[in-house]
Amino acid sequence: MIHDFPELASYLPAPFRLVVHEQAVSTNDEVRALAVSGEAGGLVLLALTQTGGRGRRGSTWVSTAGDSLAFSILIRPQEQKALWPRLALATGLAVAEALESFGPATGIKWPNDVWIKGRKVAGILVEAGADFVIVGIGLNVNTRCFPLEIADIATSLGLETGSSHSLSEVLGEVIRRFALRHLQIGTEFNEMLDSVRQRCVLTGHHVSLTVSGSTRTGRVEGIAPGGELMLRTATGLENLIQADEVRFSGNTKES
Ligand code: BTN
Repeated sequence: MIHDFPELASYLPAPFRLVVHEQAVSTNDEVRALAVSGEAGGLVLLALTQTGGRGRRGSTWVSTAGDSLAFSILIRPQEQKALWPRLALATGLAVAEALESFGPATGIKWPNDVWIKGRKVAGILVEAGADFVIVGIGLNVNTRCFPLEIADIATSLGLETGSSHSLSEVLGEVIRRFALRHLQIGTEFNEMLDSVRQRCVLTGHHVSLTVSGSTRTGRVEGIAPGGELMLRTATGLENLIQADEVRFSGNTKES
């Protein structure tokens, strides 16, 4: 499979521009350093090999060189800072839509894990600075074997479609979708949310999650107009802006 990143770089929508590094510890960290020294928004930094990929909640992200994508996008949002968390939903949706263009149906596990048939295919790490946001995306494209610890919960696009996919083609699809979706965190957020809601795998399920160290259990009622997770607990309805690990606590989906 040929991965034609130079060709892709020549037809990305403005202001996105692709820089490919042979190796990086973490593309999020590299982009942060560039952002701090004044790099303009729109940089997409891809590492062919990432040796110290970081995940959410301090976890590590392992990507298999040649089979998966590890890249970070630098954004300098026009919108007020309070709206920046919405970029997580926008990114999850962009990745989901890009994957769907290759065939499989996808789900979004709020706020932004992307699933295919109940397994995680992509992880997203959104980190903000004073005047920028870094959107880091790890996407299993052709990965066939996963480390034992995640073998039961991970998948790849290739495993689901039964074919191999060009990394540059998949990257191009993600960036094209992201270019549209990341602009919708302001006035067009409602429209974007409808597409997220259609894919939300938590709605109707009983879950257990932690918020700032305290555990909550309840039934997910959906996603609120501001993008928060609506959780019906024993004490009432809560809108959660963020949560750590969200686990299914029952296997029934109520109507
Ligand atoms: C998660 O699901 O926990 C998020 C994983 C995010 C991994 C990506 S790979 C590219 C970018 N660089 C990093 O160090 N992390 C993100």
